[in-house]
Amino acid sequence: METIVASVSPQSLAQAAELLRQGQVVGMPTETVYGLAANALDGAAVARIFAAKGRPQDNPLIVHVDSVAMWETVVEHLTPAARRLIDAFCPGPLTIILPRGKRVADEVCAGLDTVAVRMPSHPAARALIKECGLPLAAPSANLSGSPSPTTAAHVLGDMDGRIPLILDGGDCGVGVESTVVTLAGEQPVLLRPGYITHEQLEQVLGCPVQLAHAVTHQLAAGEKAASPGMKYKHYAPRADVTILQGDLAQYRAFLQQHAAEGVWALCFEGEEEGLPVPAVTYGLAADDATQAHALFGALRRLDEVGAKTVYARCPSETGVGLAVYNRLLRAAAFRVVAL
Ligand code: TXA
Ligand code: MG
Repeated sequence: METIVASVSPQSLAQAAELLRQGQVVGMPTETVYGLAANALDGAAVARIFAAKGRPQDNPLIVHVDSVAMWETVVEHLTPAARRLIDAFCPGPLTIILPRGKRVADEVCAGLDTVAVRMPSHPAARALIKECGLPLAAPSANLSGSPSPTTAAHVLGDMDGRIPLILDGGDCGVGVESTVVTLAGEQPVLLRPGYITHEQLEQVLGCPVQLAHAVTHQLAAGEKAASPGMKYKHYAPRADVTILQGDLAQYRAFLQQHAAEGVWALCFEGEEEGLPVPAVTYGLAADDATQAHALFGALRRLDEVGAKTVYARCPSETGVGLAVYNRLLRAAAFRVVAL
């Protein structure tokens, strides 16, 4: 199959919508990361997403809608708490899990009785959903296990020959996947941190939001993940990554001792000056949103330069920093060293 990359235009949107109506898979820009979209009501179409990604069948997908009215068609019903979150943050990078509606293809929910739904704010994603009139199931558009793609070129790198069309909407603004919160249980639980923060969710809901253990910890053997996606290896570059907790002076001193062929630094902008090893940067030390924006591109860059061993500066665990830490921790296979 030939894969076409088309910049977003009325023509390419019409072509993408037609492919989606026919049950095909299309690469779609969103404000978080690129998605691999297919008709969420068509099980055969959704199965093509799993095939293109090489995704385990038991890992459910997020359904993308363009209105509250469409949202109501894919869930059992919108609870008052869900409506509060939607009023505050949607359209935007927030996914809410609720009991599923009957129309959604079983393949989307991977056997669960709940469904994850979000309303993206990216104009191209919204235009595409509107044009085809369908809720779109879309996981991140990477091969399973690779970093999520934040440019159309990243998508092409993973999906060339696997899907017919990628809509190029430029660089994704947020850069990490949406915040995932479940409202399907007794108490809200944050399953995946993102640009909408834990603190913001608690403020709007006016109650505590539990942080799923797996956000910051490796699952123990046999432990059940609240969200199936958390049990898989994720965001992994080929290099061995280790996160170093400590200040910049301690980081420099550690690198002095460990400098060798193939060793790279993953540090914040401006910190690369005077390091004894080459560096890739990911955002500014004092601005976690810039870290989120840059992280996945930096991980892909480390693969391109052939890094063997990577020592990473540690982001904070508050605000958007928690999302950055959560992704980097998985890229590092949970190797963290306190200096
Ligand atoms: O920003 C995003 O959310 C991107 C863009 C494309 O929208 N999508 C994305 O999808 O990151 P994906 O499939 O890579 O991640 C979906 C996550 C997985 O960890 C999955 O296990 C979890 O959401 N999930 C989906 N449905 C769920 C459900 N019913 N219950 C618990 N977890 C669920
Ligand atoms: Mg993903």
